[in-house]
Amino acid sequence: MIDPQELTRRAEQLLAEATSLDELHGVQVELLGKRSALVEARSALGKLDSSERPAAGRLLQQARQEIEEMLAQRRAALEQEERRGRLGVDRLDLSEVPPGPTRGTVHLIQRTRDELEDVFVGMGFVVAEGPEVETDWYNFEALNMPPAHPARGMWDTLYLDLGEPETVLLRTHTSPVQIRLMQEQGPPIYAVMPGRCYRRDTPDARHIPIFHQIEGLVVDRGISFAELAGTIETFTTAYFGPDIHSRLRPSYFPFTEPSAEFEVTCTICKGKGCRTCSQTGWIELGGCGMVDPAVFAALGIDSEDWTGFAFGFGIDRLAQMRHVIPDMRIFYENDIRFLRQI
Ligand code: DAH
Repeated sequence: MIDPQELTRRAEQLLAEATSLDELHGVQVELLGKRSALVEARSALGKLDSSERPAAGRLLQQARQEIEEMLAQRRAALEQEERRGRLGVDRLDLSEVPPGPTRGTVHLIQRTRDELEDVFVGMGFVVAEGPEVETDWYNFEALNMPPAHPARGMWDTLYLDLGEPETVLLRTHTSPVQIRLMQEQGPPIYAVMPGRCYRRDTPDARHIPIFHQIEGLVVDRGISFAELAGTIETFTTAYFGPDIHSRLRPSYFPFTEPSAEFEVTCTICKGKGCRTCSQTGWIELGGCGMVDPAVFAALGIDSEDWTGFAFGFGIDRLAQMRHVIPDMRIFYENDIRFLRQI
């Protein structure tokens, strides 16, 4: 005869081991099912002496009740646990703040361009734009560079396979926008013209085949070289701050006469002389000069009546100098570590 106490102890142990309702079902079959020890013990009662039977029967009945109670308790506990688990999974956590899409930044070249535009707009200039695909006439000829003019060699041109050979090209500078503006609206003009330019350069620390320039053009009555120098100095201190100044050095461009290169105080050594500025204290930024009468003539503007100046410089180069960037190629490499710093 199986000891009923032994049955309840065993039941207690098995119930504690059941960790899910599924497992509990198995335990229930084992404890109370047809083949359970309890049922077996019940049928064994018949073999007992009739005087012992009632007491043994009572004990077994009591064990059964206890087991059923324990089972019900365990079921309730497991059901609660499972419900809690389900709710946990489904719960909408309103306290959670999702990170949200990360915001990009304006590319340093675009930002430099925006800042330059702001400085010039503050000086009374308007902003104009022109096409990146140009004809030979706008890019060279109207700028006083007839075909085969040696000055064309100053720009390594990317020609497009369109029309007559070497007639359509990717503009090598923003100067053709000067021509378009003079053609479209005539003087007086106070404008800056930023945009992308292209040259057949091998990329290195200071050259990229695609780069950006900003062109300036002023045409009015009585404009002199002094106004050119003053405009450049005003721009330089407005953009770089009061420590940085400008100077002009004689140079040559076919579309200006006289022409100059303009230099600004080296931003790295503040004019003391360092490796970047080859110990001169100055860094060349761009070209400028008085609009050549031949350019006015090509557009039918009377150079007895109107005079003007123009300038042009690289936006990428300017950003490189201002932010002390050793290699320009980083601008186009899409390295998130660089882009994020802006
Ligand atoms: N277009 C010239 C270049 O890309 C720069 C330049 C020089 C622009 C003199 C001008 C200028 O407007 O007057 O090298």
